[in-house]
Amino acid sequence: MSKQNAVLDAIHFRRTVNQNSFTQEDISREDILTILEAANAAPTHKRTQPWRFVIFRKEGLERLGTELSRIYKTVTPAEKYTEATAQNMAKKATQSNVAIALIVNYTGDLPEWEELAATSCAVENLWLAAHSLHIGGYWATPGLINHLGGFLNLAENQKCIGIFYLGHHNAESREPARSPIEDKIRWEE
Ligand SMILES: Cc1cc2nc3c(=O)[nH]c(=O)nc-3n(C[C@H](O)[C@H](O)[C@H](O)COP(=O)(O)O)c2cc1C
Repeated sequence: MSKQNAVLDAIHFRRTVNQNSFTQEDISREDILTILEAANAAPTHKRTQPWRFVIFRKEGLERLGTELSRIYKTVTPAEKYTEATAQNMAKKATQSNVAIALIVNYTGDLPEWEELAATSCAVENLWLAAHSLHIGGYWATPGLINHLGGFLNLAENQKCIGIFYLGHHNAESREPARSPIEDKIRWEE
């Protein structure tokens, strides 16, 4: 890295952190709001601000976990179903301190990909803000999220694009595993 500052450090040292590294420490409501305010600062064409979030804490995490296992049971063919996976689905929620359902609100004013892109920008902001508060997390996109509409009370024009699981953690910070940027750019000068 040639230059360093707080923004560049956060971008480079933000990592996927999962439940294995989460501690029991509570994430305060204030910190959750700080993280979501950062998401809300994302760029958005025509200011449609298409990101929506449902925040699960405490008992809400139990309800989310139960619903994820139930959906897994419902949609998985009997020969592929395992009790261990069903329990694991629930644990992703219950072993997190907070889970945030990531939702795109399609307005019809823009191509859908633009609303999805803006919401993805919001998720990266959320992730970086959490990192800056020493909170880790990851964006989970199991197929089950396509069946969460009823549970999340989504409108017809809304789609869940993942669940973001969060927790204070004890993971070591590490450099990103990426192939060189030189392989992905072309200069036109
Ligand atoms: C759109 C999207 C979907 C993702 N879905 C999952 C997922 O379902 N499960 C998971 O463990 N990680 C998921 N991730 C996180 C990636 O696995 C992770 O970012 C990648 O391994 C790079 O690691 P890093 O975040 O530490 O740089 C997702 C990331 C993105 C951007």
